[in-house]
Amino acid sequence: MLRDPRCPQGPSRRGVLAGVGGSAAALPLMTQPAHAQSSQARQIGEAVDVVLTVNGRDHRLTLDPRTTLLDALREHIGLTGSKKGCDQGQCGACTVLLDDRRVLSCLTLAVVAQGRAVTTIEGLAAGEALHPMQAAFIAHDAFQCGYCTPGQILSAVACVHEGHAGDPEQVRRYMSGNLCRCGAYPKIVAAVVEAAPRMRSA
Ligand code: FES
Ligand code: FES
Repeated sequence: MLRDPRCPQGPSRRGVLAGVGGSAAALPLMTQPAHAQSSQARQIGEAVDVVLTVNGRDHRLTLDPRTTLLDALREHIGLTGSKKGCDQGQCGACTVLLDDRRVLSCLTLAVVAQGRAVTTIEGLAAGEALHPMQAAFIAHDAFQCGYCTPGQILSAVACVHEGHAGDPEQVRRYMSGNLCRCGAYPKIVAAVVEAAPRMRSA
């Protein structure tokens, strides 16, 4: 069975909530909408100081300890390139790199990302020069609405680093966690296959 390589290395939001163990307070939180969760979390958790290194720059934040990496990026740092699709680990729109490994930032706590290098779509290009994967997505017109595209590109970059971009079938399998409502899959696969050798030789 194929394993999604983006499972967070550290405790996930769900894991931490589950790790509250027999706490009766935790279970109701898991079944409530996010806004209700964060409202209760504010009552439960005390703010913590966090330093996140995103795209090579340190950001000092004071966060509720339950804040996800995705919300820290979008709402506290102002990097909105990482998209919130499902907020439940099912669509891949929020994929970012954590020490060059892909993670679902909606399932990763911001505090877990401390001391690690976070790369978002905003940090992929080298100045004016697009990353080979970004260039390939444009060359192949591998998007329509573009909502899934940041997550697709970061997932694709990691896919190549993992050695899982050898042929179209492999790319389809290892990119299967990134959904595209617009159905741009054939062009996405073509872009990844084309960019892979360029990344290896860069
Ligand atoms: S928003 Fe994270 S997987 Fe959908
Ligand atoms: S390009 Fe629209 S969701 Fe993928």
